[in-house]
Amino acid sequence: MSEAFAEQTFDSLEFRRALGAFVTGVTVVTTVQLDGTPRGFTANSFASVSLDPPLILVCIAKSASSHEVFSATDHFAVSVLAGDQKAVSGVFASKSPDKFAQVAWRARATGAPVMDGAAATFDCKTHNIVDAGDHIILIGRVVDFVHSNASPLGYCRGAYVNFHLSQDALAATGARAQVGAILEHRDGLVLLKTKDGLQLPTGVKLEPESDTGSLRGVLAKLGLPTHLDFIFAVFESGSGPAASVHVYYRGRVTSSLAAMMDDAIHIVPLSRIPWGELRDDAVRSMLQRYVRERSEDAFGIYVGDTAAGKVQTLAHAN
Ligand SMILES: Cc1cc2nc3c(=O)[nH]c(=O)nc-3n(C[C@H](O)[C@H](O)[C@H](O)COP(=O)(O)O)c2cc1C
Repeated sequence: MSEAFAEQTFDSLEFRRALGAFVTGVTVVTTVQLDGTPRGFTANSFASVSLDPPLILVCIAKSASSHEVFSATDHFAVSVLAGDQKAVSGVFASKSPDKFAQVAWRARATGAPVMDGAAATFDCKTHNIVDAGDHIILIGRVVDFVHSNASPLGYCRGAYVNFHLSQDALAATGARAQVGAILEHRDGLVLLKTKDGLQLPTGVKLEPESDTGSLRGVLAKLGLPTHLDFIFAVFESGSGPAASVHVYYRGRVTSSLAAMMDDAIHIVPLSRIPWGELRDDAVRSMLQRYVRERSEDAFGIYVGDTAAGKVQTLAHAN
């Protein structure tokens, strides 16, 4: 690096703003200090480092009051917060002396505490600590981990982002809603045979399962145990009183074919979808994008109406 570059100073606020364009999750990093007191702080600097051996990292400011404890600990844990845990993030980003009295937590194998309800937790032995400017990089070797179906909490440009589309938000649009699922089974896509042709499973809202009009209720009635991963498309159709909002999740069937007894269920390989039999033009074009992106393994969220819209790329599968 030349001297000119090395000595360049930034407007630190602008630097922070630029870094804020990087979308992250939110974690709580925890350990137990020598006298047995649990310590923890909120961190979005978490990153995966290595699969073999399994390593993760998190950066801790030297100005943090728990910096000394973490720079000396031989174990720690990381809880990846779920979408409904903004308050937990707030507690651990504070200087409160009794952070752990304000949340539900439990100790893991290493003794480090983890947050109840987290989307994932990683229990670690300290692998290495690297001095890095005004932070230290704490690298952990993962000795155990747990993850759930909970939608994670996101963070971008200084604000929390929730990936879960709530029913309240849908209801607030005032339009009728159709909530559907693009479900894959090992042998292909799940389509339902109706008198008007083939269609994806849909309901008028996402849940509860006890409501046969909801997507989860429809799937339960069909005997389809599923895991919904993420929203794939949101689009509008019609206008005025006939306006509807369509929300499609992508997900997976979690049972074997033999368990699926309902005659209406058709499993179709992605390469052999009978496009002409799909009854809805908007669903056909959405599925065509799904098949294309599935082959590239790059999913996006579609936001628009039935005729035009743009795909906002969300993530590349590893
Ligand atoms: C979303 C979010 C992400 C944060 N990420 C980090 C981080 O990666 N590293 C860090 O040292 N502090 C981070 N902080 C700030 C600490 O959580 C905060 O300084 C906290 O008070 C430290 O706790 P302590 O003083 O008890 O050690 C973050 C705060 C928030 C709200």
